[in-house]
Amino acid sequence: MKYKAYLVEEIDGNFMGSIKNLDKPTLENGRILIKVNSSSLNYKDALACSGAKGVVRSYPFTPGIDVAGTIIESSDNKFSEGDMVIATGYKIGMSEFGGFGEIVHLPSNWVLKMPNNLNCETAMSYGTAGITAAACVKKIVDAGCTKSLPVLVSGATGGVGSVAVGILSKIGYEVHAITGKPQENEILMKMGAKTIIDRNEFLQDPIKPMDKALYSSAVDTVGGDILAKTLTMVSNHGVVSCCGNVAGASFTSSVFPFILRGIQLCGIDSAESSIELKKELWDLLSDSWSLDLTNQTKIVDLNEIDKEIEKILRGNQIGRVVIKHGE
Ligand SMILES: NC(=O)c1ccc[n+]([C@@H]2O[C@H](COP(=O)([O-])OP(=O)(O)OC[C@H]3O[C@@H](n4cnc5c(N)ncnc54)[C@H](OP(=O)(O)O)[C@@H]3O)[C@@H](O)[C@H]2O)c1
Repeated sequence: MKYKAYLVEEIDGNFMGSIKNLDKPTLENGRILIKVNSSSLNYKDALACSGAKGVVRSYPFTPGIDVAGTIIESSDNKFSEGDMVIATGYKIGMSEFGGFGEIVHLPSNWVLKMPNNLNCETAMSYGTAGITAAACVKKIVDAGCTKSLPVLVSGATGGVGSVAVGILSKIGYEVHAITGKPQENEILMKMGAKTIIDRNEFLQDPIKPMDKALYSSAVDTVGGDILAKTLTMVSNHGVVSCCGNVAGASFTSSVFPFILRGIQLCGIDSAESSIELKKELWDLLSDSWSLDLTNQTKIVDLNEIDKEIEKILRGNQIGRVVIKHGE
């Protein structure tokens, strides 16, 4: 049996994706075969599609770090044919063929049953971006950070940023959103932001060792100077959740925010989080932290992936992109 997949190949040093018919894998012990209904587009997928170093082990390869679908064969008695499931991260879309193909063959301990209240499409409108945003917010909530000051979110129109804005606002934090697209203020306000900060204005003044403590906490999805400045503006015992590097992989900081305000810089690695933490985050997203992402989610098919990848690499995506396979 054949299945359709968006396969990325290296041709003369260039990486190109196209839709190919591949052979269905044979079920191995400890694995399950999933008929993928939907995947989603994350920044990491765009890197995988464009051959960025350190993401995909070898090409030809089918990216897609997120998977939602139905089990067609299982070697694990915890799962049965017909179960609706989700899987995100680990080595999916890195060394295991991912959700941009109609079938995946994954270790069963990477897979979770679909939470109540979600279906394949709504789950993928969160995807890895959603559980990463939820993990960032959980650090802030678990530390008991005050709601009497706003929380800062960077990369606010992006996948992780937009979901973080929505969750924080839903649970009662005032959200200030840093964006390179200040013209999108209406969308950001609808997502739940109270104040929109133009990225260039945020970085206009030089970064000091300590600045006014305007924020209770922050979710930083971009890194670089924005993270460096954010650290100087978080009030006593606040948390800065750090998950991304689109603005830069390095930053400089003094020790003062840490030793004079006791702030915490919390790293987030959603891909390799334990399956128990992933379940907890999915349960939150399907219940008390659930959001209606309909207006900020675009649904596309395999033919439309190329242009969406270009957009995300240029920082021009807004919200989330779900990739839906045919029935
Ligand atoms: N650690 C983890 O577990 C984990 C999981 C998922 C994602 N990530 C990382 O988190 C980051 C965001 O991922 P995503 O999927 O949300 O990507 P995305 O949808 O492309 O969002 C990134 C957003 O960052 C902003 N941005 C883009 N270029 C920028 C620049 N040069 N300087 C400052 N801001 C810039 C843009 O928003 P505005 O225009 O609104 O500023 C953009 O929409 C990526 O670095 C990704 O690798 C990490």
